[in-house]
Amino acid sequence: MKSVLIVNPKGGAGKTTLATNLAGGLASFGNGEVRLWDLDRQHSSLEWLALRPADRPAISPLVGNKQDHGHSRKKSAGWLILDSPAGIHGKMLQRALKLANKVIVPIQPSIFDIAASDDFLRELREEKVVRKEKCRIGIVGMRVDPRTRAASTLGAYLQQYDLPILTWLRDTQVYANAAFNGLSIFDLPDSVSGRDTEQWQPILEWVSD
Ligand SMILES: Nc1ncnc2c1ncn2[C@@H]1O[C@H](COP(=O)(O)OP(=O)(O)OP(=O)(O)O)[C@@H](O)[C@H]1O
Ligand SMILES: [Mg+2]
Repeated sequence: MKSVLIVNPKGGAGKTTLATNLAGGLASFGNGEVRLWDLDRQHSSLEWLALRPADRPAISPLVGNKQDHGHSRKKSAGWLILDSPAGIHGKMLQRALKLANKVIVPIQPSIFDIAASDDFLRELREEKVVRKEKCRIGIVGMRVDPRTRAASTLGAYLQQYDLPILTWLRDTQVYANAAFNGLSIFDLPDSVSGRDTEQWQPILEWVSD
């Protein structure tokens, strides 16, 4: 099973939006079963999943004993997407990283978000699993128009960490509107979310690689 952790300790960075849409994208286009594991006590991802219509590509929730999951996870095919809470650090971050092959960090292009992510990106790079290259990190610019000064400032800031920017996702109500119905942008017609699904292609390719 390939597992992808979505993480950024900054609240509201876009973790749940990324996790639920990644699960939706993989359910539509990936090979194998898709599971969503919500490490956040707010359970936003699980609430989204509870709203998901039964006729949409299936995503199953993963709940219960973490050790059992660790055991069964290695054996089964498919995908595990982990949504994580704001404020994650230390032991909980280490435990979450051990479960993941890939890590996606959503960051918004503001001075507040950049400042809040700084210590975290440093901590992430020092983690053993990352240093040993057991788990790869990619950044997603959230709510960004790549032509703006904000985007180039974020890009320049990220260069010091030598981490790939997988893509920029535009600021749009399409995500919020889809989420109200337990849908991802991949469940919507092209006329509504075509621009957005296109922006997601590098993410789907990177996690599948
Ligand atoms: N690309 C986007 N365009 C417009 N709105 C977005 C986008 N991405 C996220 N949002 C909105 O930003 C808000 C925060 O997003 P989200 O809940 O995914 O963040 P989070 O990191 O999971 O927050 P928390 O730390 O509280 O768990 C939500 O209202 C969401 O709809
Ligand atoms: Mg969240």
